[in-house]
Amino acid sequence: MSQVTVVNHPLVQHKLTRMRDKTTSTKTFRALMRETATLLCYEVTRDLPMDQVEIETPVAKASAYEIGGKKLVFAPILRAGLGMCEGMLDLVPSARVAHIGLYRDHETLEAIEYYFKAPEDISGRLTIVVDPMLATGHSAIAAIARLKHYGVTNLRFVCLLAAQAGVDALREAHPDVPIWTAAIDEKLNEHGYIVPGLGDAGDRTFGTR
Ligand code: URA
Repeated sequence: MSQVTVVNHPLVQHKLTRMRDKTTSTKTFRALMRETATLLCYEVTRDLPMDQVEIETPVAKASAYEIGGKKLVFAPILRAGLGMCEGMLDLVPSARVAHIGLYRDHETLEAIEYYFKAPEDISGRLTIVVDPMLATGHSAIAAIARLKHYGVTNLRFVCLLAAQAGVDALREAHPDVPIWTAAIDEKLNEHGYIVPGLGDAGDRTFGTR
């Protein structure tokens, strides 16, 4: 079974609390989403492979480290994943981006794909799937299946908030994909929303409701 990491850093928890609060404005919510994603990105990339390189400082020659291998891919699930992706790109500006458009059928809660655009050479790259809310797990499972279809084998999933049901479903469908989240909430309501959660992450990021 895949590993699940709950990032309980005080800064992450504080910002998440502000995001949960329904009185937080769209402007502040969007800024917090970006900042929290940067902090989560720091954790998700903690064990990236490094190369040793020889450089010259203003003082002396030195042996130092840099990130090795091919550039990362961030794969935001549209549209809420976009807000998180911005914060991850702040930290890794040379990463490539694969956009995956999925919407939830309101009756069945199934994920329906309407857009997919990824780097042509994505198969050899570490790909980090980004979606703030891991609720039923349907979108994450579908997005990862699509990436695997294109030959991606090295995958990670990062979200802001998860429901235990979503974590269980994702781990069962893709046991090879480790998960990072700031918190795991108690349950889902009858509409598939995380409880207590923070509401609709897309609406709160883009001010659409
Ligand atoms: N998507 C959201 O934006 N919020 C939830 O609580 C569940 C899914």
